[in-house]
Amino acid sequence: MEIIKTAKDMQAHAEKTRMQGKTIVFVPTMGFLHEGHLSLLREGSRHGDHLVLSIFVNPTQFAAGEDFESYPRDFEKDAAAAQKEGVDVIFAPEKANLYDDDFETYVSLEKLPNHLCGLSRPTHFRGVATIVTKLFNIVKPHAAVFGEKDYQQLAIIRRMTRDLNFDIRIIGVPIVREPDGLAMSSRNTYLAPEQRQAALSLYRSLSEAQNMVKTGETRATRLIEEARRTISAFPENSIDYVTVCDPDTLEDVALIDRPVLMALAVRVGKCRLIDNMVLHPAG
Ligand code: PAJ
Repeated sequence: MEIIKTAKDMQAHAEKTRMQGKTIVFVPTMGFLHEGHLSLLREGSRHGDHLVLSIFVNPTQFAAGEDFESYPRDFEKDAAAAQKEGVDVIFAPEKANLYDDDFETYVSLEKLPNHLCGLSRPTHFRGVATIVTKLFNIVKPHAAVFGEKDYQQLAIIRRMTRDLNFDIRIIGVPIVREPDGLAMSSRNTYLAPEQRQAALSLYRSLSEAQNMVKTGETRATRLIEEARRTISAFPENSIDYVTVCDPDTLEDVALIDRPVLMALAVRVGKCRLIDNMVLHPAG
């Protein structure tokens, strides 16, 4: 396994790999790898013969006051896990290698960021779209793998890939959960044991909503009310949003007569958690 530190070296490596006729599959991450990230690597290895993992805590997707500085990092542990999964290259640049002091070019979308997490994190998806564009130009992948855990991010990357004609296949991977249902996240390490119980209410409220829809509930407001009640039963929880929306446009939906996305974001103590589920109506 090779560790590459600069964009220039990564581009040269990608060019050489393509010349050898290999298919490059790319898994971008911010590191502190868990089973969710590893499932992306496993899925990725089925789609090509050269697996590139990037580890880069991207400053432009964090707003002032968010957890950029304290975001958990453990490169040695990540590298060992990556090697076990058969990763060929870890691309792990320094911040200064990707962002010059006078950097001024961003990629932003017009509509998809104006929903869900974009409402409370107005510059987040501009940062994500920009870094993913840069990484696509550096790693030159044939395919790239993203998790459905960050549903809005995946939707934005699919849209951006089409809009900007990136010749890259985008592969989505289902959410990997802890045995108790909590969606795996690098940020779960912030949770104290009692907050962990409160955090379980996210998955519980999504599962309850799924049951309600399966047994004939068609009113989004009812699902939202129930979920808010379940989550608010824990005093350490503070709801950012609970939304039922169209899985493609992310526009709010009132009547559930086709599959809908239920998505939520909750602050548990100082830790902001997100989760989602696509709900399928009965019949
Ligand atoms: P990060 O939060 O490290 O996540 C990297 C990838 O792992 C994302 O595609 C995310 O959706 C996926 N992932 C995280 N937890 C998951 C889980 N429990 N199940 C399945 N997949 C999961 O997302 C980012 O980094 C950044 O925004 C990035 C795309 C790297 C750009 O900086």
